[in-house]
Amino acid sequence: MPQVSIDGQIICYEEHGAGPPLLLIHGFPLDSRMWAEQMRVFAGRRAIAPDLPGFGRSPSTRAYSVAELGELMHRLLRELDARPAVVGGLSMGGYVAMALMARHPHDVAGLVLIDTRSEADSPDARAGRMRMIQTARESGASAIAEQMIPRLLAPQTLQSRPAVVAAVREMAQGLSATTIENTLLALRDREDYSGLLSSVRVPALIVVGEHDAITPPAVARSMHERLAGSTLEVIQGAGHLSPMEQPEAVNRAMARFLERGATT
Ligand code: MLT
Repeated sequence: MPQVSIDGQIICYEEHGAGPPLLLIHGFPLDSRMWAEQMRVFAGRRAIAPDLPGFGRSPSTRAYSVAELGELMHRLLRELDARPAVVGGLSMGGYVAMALMARHPHDVAGLVLIDTRSEADSPDARAGRMRMIQTARESGASAIAEQMIPRLLAPQTLQSRPAVVAAVREMAQGLSATTIENTLLALRDREDYSGLLSSVRVPALIVVGEHDAITPPAVARSMHERLAGSTLEVIQGAGHLSPMEQPEAVNRAMARFLERGATT
């Protein structure tokens, strides 16, 4: 897996293909492997899927805020000479994509927001983060994986796609308690990006699983309303991890979007 060092932080990433760049940022508690079904299919695109610090193969050097992760991903695009890029992210990756867009709109050729939201955490969500941190401290990554999996995946994925369940479990169980804690604090304290959406002037695609229990279709619809000219795609049979659960449908939606106009 190739890597770059950005101010002492090693970022490992997968890269496939050639052409206008497409950056894909993973969600929590996952890593770049969640994009396995997307990486090879976008012919004519240079697809780049990094591991955020502490995830997958990228080591954890310190805690990063979501805004800092956005900066780090922008630095990655610079280091790889991959600007402007279509920037996509799932859930946490969507927050990071919006953070990157907020600071560097001219280096973003298009936005792909998958199973994510623009609002900051509600007071209830913030309290939930603290309960999860307690679980991670007391019982480690496996307990976080078991707690999250039923909410991450649609019932039909849980019942009939054991390989997807196993892949999510493997990624989640590989996290250190420190990475889990640092990340949950970053998610808890992230900014509200709702205002940003109305200023976006590049093509945007919003994707949501019909059974997404964490960022449900109503949340995606409200982003779609704020984001002028955006396209909304609801993925049947998917939960919060639609690119893993229904990759063909997500890939078709992304291909239509990329062909239609998110060119660089
Ligand atoms: C994710 O999938 O990245 C997380 O569910 C994001 C979050 O908890 O806000």
